[in-house]
Order: sequence, then C-alpha cells, then structure tokens
Amino acid sequence: MSQYSADPAPHSALATVAAAHRDWWRHAVIYQVYPRSFADGDGDGMGDLQGVRSRLPYLRDLGVDAVWLSPFYASPQADAGYDVADYRAVDPMFGTLLDADALVRDAHALGLRIIVDLVPNHSSDQHEWFKRALAEGPGSPLRDRYHFRPGKGEDGELPPNDWESIFGGPAWTRVPDGEWYLHLFAPEQPDFNWDHPAVGDEFRSILRFWLDIGVDGFRVDVAHGLVKAEGLPDLGGRDQLKLLGNDVMPFFDQDGVHAIYRQWRTILDEYSGDRIFVAEAWTPTIERTAHYVRPDELHQAFNFQYLSSAWDAAELREVIARTLDAMRPVGAPATWVLSNHDVTRHATRFANPPGLGTQIRTAGDRALGLRRARAATLLMLALPGSAYLYQGEELGLPDVVDLPDEVRQDPAYFRGAGQDGFRDGCRVPIPWTRDGSSYGFGGGGSWLPQPPEWGGLSVQAQTGTPGSTLELYRAALAVRRAQADLGAGESVEWLKAPDGVLAFRRGEFVCVANTTGESVTTPAHGRLLLASDEIAETGGEAKLPADTTVWWTTAGA
Ligand code: NOJ
Repeated sequence: MSQYSADPAPHSALATVAAAHRDWWRHAVIYQVYPRSFADGDGDGMGDLQGVRSRLPYLRDLGVDAVWLSPFYASPQADAGYDVADYRAVDPMFGTLLDADALVRDAHALGLRIIVDLVPNHSSDQHEWFKRALAEGPGSPLRDRYHFRPGKGEDGELPPNDWESIFGGPAWTRVPDGEWYLHLFAPEQPDFNWDHPAVGDEFRSILRFWLDIGVDGFRVDVAHGLVKAEGLPDLGGRDQLKLLGNDVMPFFDQDGVHAIYRQWRTILDEYSGDRIFVAEAWTPTIERTAHYVRPDELHQAFNFQYLSSAWDAAELREVIARTLDAMRPVGAPATWVLSNHDVTRHATRFANPPGLGTQIRTAGDRALGLRRARAATLLMLALPGSAYLYQGEELGLPDVVDLPDEVRQDPAYFRGAGQDGFRDGCRVPIPWTRDGSSYGFGGGGSWLPQPPEWGGLSVQAQTGTPGSTLELYRAALAVRRAQADLGAGESVEWLKAPDGVLAFRRGEFVCVANTTGESVTTPAHGRLLLASDEIAETGGEAKLPADTTVWWTTAGA
C-alpha cells in the first residue's frame, strides 16, 4: 500500500470560502524568467541573478504582477538546472544565495512577487543522497530514497520494467554493482522514492528554507510524477508515447500525489503574504488537472490543454469553456499559457500547420505566426484567471529552428527517440538592444547564438515604436488592469459570431477574435480599447483583418 491514500471528495464548503477571496494570484499575470537566457550580469555569456535584478524595473513597467524563475540552484546542468544537486544553494553560474535574497527584496520593493521553481520528482545524480546511495551499494537503506531495483533476466541484464524516459530510451540505468535506478527524465535525474519518509521531510524543510527567504511561491516541477503505482507495473506493450498526456500512467497523475500537496499547503498557509503553488501537471484532461487545485492543495496549475490548442475558434472556445467549468467547482482560477521553456514559441507554432505538436522544427510563415501570436495574446489576456507569459514573447520572438547541432544542450536531443529534443530553440538569450555584444543580453557572448535579425526585435528597437509587439503587450497589460481587472471573475458570456470567430462579453468588456485567414465584419461593441491589428469601424460595424483580436468596452460609449 502506498503511503499516500486516495483523495477525499472535493470540499464544497471550502471551495466557497476560497472563491470568496479574490487574492492577487487569482488574476495575476506571471512572467517566466529563464535565468540562463534573460540577462547576463557578469558578461560570461550565461544569464544570472544579477542580470535578472538589473531588469526588474523593465518587468514592473511591462505591467506584470509576478516573476517565476526557472531553477538557479546548484546543478551540473544536465537538464539546464532541472537536475538539482543542492536545493539550498545557488549555482555559482547564477550567483550566490545573497543574490537570490537581494532579488526577492528588490522585486518586493518594486511591487513584484517572486515564484521559484521546486523540483521534487528527481534530484541530480550529483546530489549528496544519490552519491552516498551509490557508494554504499545494494542493500543500503540509503538506496530506498530513490528507486533502485535488481534487473530482470538471467543476470539482471534487463531493466526492472518497461517504462521509457520522457527524453527517450529506457527509464532505467544500470550501475556498476548491477542494480538499476529509475529516472523518468535523463539518467542524471534519478527519481526520488516519495514513499520514503525522509524525502517528504526533506522537501518540507526545503519549502521552509525558501519561504523564510521570502519567496511568494513555488512552481512545482513534474507535480504529476512524484508517486508511482505500487510495484512499478509494466505498461505491457502499450505505446507509451501515445498514452502520455492521454491517460493516467503508472508513473504520472497517480492519485497518491494529492496527499503530498495537502501537506505542503498547510506549510504555506502558516506563512503570511498570500503565497502560492503552481503545478506543472500534465494530465489527460483539464478535469483531472482541477484535482491539483482543490482548496486544500495547490493554488494554480498550468493549462496545457490551452497551450496545446490550435489557433482555431471552435477548438479555443471548447477548451476555454471546459477549463472554466472544470475550475469553478474547486474554486480555483483558470490559468492560460501559450509558451514556456519546454515548447516551441507560439509565434512559431502558429506559423506552422496545426497538429505538429509542441516541438516544431520549421520556421513556417513567420509573418502569419506573429499576427496570430499577437491576436492569441489579446485573447488570452481577456480571459478570467491568471495568465503566464514566457520571456521574449512580448517581443514576438520566434523559435530559433536552425541552431547548429554542436551548440544544442537539450538532453532529449541526445537521447534521440524521445518525444522532443528541440527545446533549445525557445531558450536562446533574448535581445535587449539593437546592436552590441549579444544584443544587450550581457557584455560577453551568449550561450546559444542569437540570429542576426534579433537586434531589430530587441526591447530597444520596439520601445516607443507604434504597433510593435512590445508596445501591444504593454498596452494590453495596462488595459487589463484598468478594466476593473480583466483577470477577475470565472466565466464569460459567449456572443453569437460567424464561423472561425470567437466573441464574448464580460460585463462592459467585449473581446472578439478572428482566427480565420479572411477579414470578417462584426458589430462594433462600443469604444475601441485595443486591437492586435488595425481595424476599420463604420456605422456600428467593424472590419477585422485576418487573425486579429479586438477589445471593446461599452462603458461611456
Ligand atoms: C519540466 C521542466 O519544465 C523541464 O524543463 C524539465 O526538463 C522536466 N520537467 C524535468 O525536470
């Protein structure tokens, strides 16, 4: 029997109480900083915490509420920091613990909140626990903090079960003494055994460590993976790649994970300041995602169903409605996200035909992708709930699809048959200035090469430029705040609209998104607030160009 039992039913009374509190995170816009690619303070070609500190005023002026930082902990960087060797230390490549502390203080002084990444599913193979477990050999109780097993076959030469790593290849690696250990990701990322009490104790202590420093919350990496099915059962010939994301797996989305989050929630609630957890939980359905954000569990979960949707009115309407319906009963805010450090940027996804997934290797029609990306952003920022932005999307950056093989670092790329491997394309350091070394990313080079045209996409080039994507984001975030906070609330009123067009009202606010490749004429809904492209209004009607989103208000019209 697993230490973590199945869940109790949702608590409707608690849901009501929670829903009554319109806390900051329910409607926040949260900006993801990928520290190695945001800003380089010491000029070594790698972004760092000093760099992030220096750019906090930019984020405040952009108009976001909070910043989520991908991991900056001590790590051999086998998976860009998602392989943590010491959860209480900052990797020297990013700075020091004092820098992290100063970053939190600076952010707070600017009115920004800081969310850090927590990686509880696995450690680095250079974590002290794993090194000791390895050194002590088979039978050592230290091995029980991970999943060590003898192999199958006459000489134990076969892996203990048939699970595959998400990055490709077997999910097991054999160590010199003959045992195997489980790693759902790279071999350098051994999975913790969450049935071992020391693992839970350690993570509760790690939570407190960062809460004491003053962080406002945690993004929980692989939140759906901590608990594995009893006995680590084989998939038995079922195609893992087809099942992933479509089914509950023996290693993903097991009901036992929820007991962990109920414990964590009690810790967070001891602290003042309205702090939060956001789950990276890839589940088969948005309804199962809602389990992670029941009132006594985590606060938010990324909406990967939304991220995976095509630029198509019918598909978007379906996922929006279903998301709002799934979140309402548990009293959690919906979240919306279009890009992050694991998927092809949406300016490139939408430049390609739909159905290619989230790892795309072709540039596609760049102009079309940007038009759609801008329209998609206005749609997302008009929805009730919390929205996540990924650094550089406010510049309309595309993925870099032609990185030379020798500069690639994504571990999945090297493991071949995995589901992805092209994540470096969305991780290229962002441009701040038109010219200069690494376009203002830092005084030196950049750990991944930036395309020459990125100077023209830089913050400097776009600032004050009418119609630029950066100015569109700035305006959208300002309007979102001014319109009695567009993120508040939990439903939309759908309006009748032609095929391929999405229209909804939220009080006096109206959003219309034309996802078709043709211009459409719709009623104008009052005073124009913002549009992702130029629209023509005459006699109470508006002509929306292809792939355009418009915001109107009937207030004072
Ligand atoms: C999800 C993270 O976002 C991704 O970058 C990482 O490779 C895996 N989890 C493993 O930690």
